[in-house]
Amino acid sequence: MPTFELSSVPPAEVAADLLILPVFQDRAAGPGVAEIQQRLGADLLATLAEHRVSGRLGDLLVIPTLGRLKAKNVMLVGVGPKADAGAGAVRRAAMKAARAAVKFGTVATTLAQVGDDPEASAHALAEGVTLGAYRFDTYKERPIDEASKEKPRLKRVMVLGSGPGLKAALRRGQVYADAGNWARDLVNTPALDAPPSFLASEAEKMARSNGLRCKIWTKAELKRGGFGGILGVGSGSANDPRLIELSYSADGSGQPIAITGKGVTFDSGGLSLKDATQMEWMKADMGGAAATIAAMRAIAQLKPKVNVIAAIPSSENMPGGAAIRPGDVLRHRGGKTSEVLNTDAEGRLILADALAYLVEKKPRVVIDSATLTGAAMVALGTDVYAIIGSDQGLVDDLLEAGCAEGEPGWQLPLWSDYRRNIESTVADVKNTGGRWGGAINAGLFLKEFVGDTPWAHLDVAGTAFAETPTDVWPKGATGSPARTLIRYVETQAARGRGKGRTKS
Ligand code: BES
Ligand code: ZN
Ligand code: MN
Repeated sequence: MPTFELSSVPPAEVAADLLILPVFQDRAAGPGVAEIQQRLGADLLATLAEHRVSGRLGDLLVIPTLGRLKAKNVMLVGVGPKADAGAGAVRRAAMKAARAAVKFGTVATTLAQVGDDPEASAHALAEGVTLGAYRFDTYKERPIDEASKEKPRLKRVMVLGSGPGLKAALRRGQVYADAGNWARDLVNTPALDAPPSFLASEAEKMARSNGLRCKIWTKAELKRGGFGGILGVGSGSANDPRLIELSYSADGSGQPIAITGKGVTFDSGGLSLKDATQMEWMKADMGGAAATIAAMRAIAQLKPKVNVIAAIPSSENMPGGAAIRPGDVLRHRGGKTSEVLNTDAEGRLILADALAYLVEKKPRVVIDSATLTGAAMVALGTDVYAIIGSDQGLVDDLLEAGCAEGEPGWQLPLWSDYRRNIESTVADVKNTGGRWGGAINAGLFLKEFVGDTPWAHLDVAGTAFAETPTDVWPKGATGSPARTLIRYVETQAARGRGKGRTKS
């Protein structure tokens, strides 16, 4: 991953393999463009026009400088209309530019000077470059960039500019994006190599090197603890389930923020088997778990003044001989029961146990992230995740955090009348609610297990994994919603919400 350094060298004097300069919509010069034009004795903006590049967000043009500049190449990157060019535009432009720039070793840029909040732009730049330079080539005999002889990989980024707080902002941005990229690695790793025990051992290693407390619950311990959902979903698999418990404390006896995420390492559907195409990306059904574990890593590194606990359930949903059957009833942690009518609605079954366990710890709020329903994806597509919650303040804070991190969410209603959809004749609740309002029915199921604790649920089925590549994401995991969670926790700490006990 690239390293960042702040530099006050003028762009015309900086020695680099590539100098990235922003251009606003309609070819208006961004920071540094005028002096580079002067030094080159060339009209870069006219060159853009010749190549029909307008400066729309993400537009790119690379021009070799043929010895006329210390920087060997100039890359002009569009950041969109000047009036809206802030941290969000910087992040997206940096992601796109870094994707195209991996073959360059040393890169310099004035991109962080775009926008009127320098710290937010520096944070976004570090994130964008780190996320954009990500490659998943663990399984390639010839790494992706080496295959086209495009070595070396982006190693060093000189961020041109100066100001108080910029260095810290770059570091924070890098911690956020490193967490996002680690979540991507966990999600991209094939389920063959990433059963629940793998997720657990990765979390344990991370906890050890970052000073978090960690307890891994084994199958026998889960049985003794009454975690019937995690066990039930995992019973058709040769790979035993786990519960991964992580805790971070920095606020004495303050009530913690509690987070959890769906860790289904592969979702075949179980006996309610999915068809072949629906199963293609189901190694990514632990995206919520990966984002939650990765968020704990960033929290350990950033050290916000708030306590955070996580309990992440992980099972593999397979149709083996010991699998749960439609009609079976599971007893969850705390005693509530659910009737399993469709073994493919498994995420809510494991989350129910984790939520019930977390609320025993009397947290201030509890947040779950899950690739839970195709319905959320149908409603909001692949760029926006769904948020459902019992506490409007919590939902608003999460929406704001997501927006600031370029991970937008949209609220769906916790429509209480639909509780009738999940009424069971034999158990406390059933795990399917019919086709209509599928994401809301799933939310209502989860709500049964949180009591009065303010709770929010992020359904990231659409955003955790890019099946079709976009401008900014290659095909594969995105790390969503890790950065939303980190930002939420940091913001709460900054607002002093971690301080002491609040009324329960
Ligand atoms: N993991 C899936 C949801 C999913 C679908 C995630 C597509 C990413 C892409 C989940 O376990 C599931 O199968 N949900 C069912 C629920 C239904 C059986 C009530 C669904 O959405 O169809
Ligand atoms: Zn699933
Ligand atoms: Mn499923």
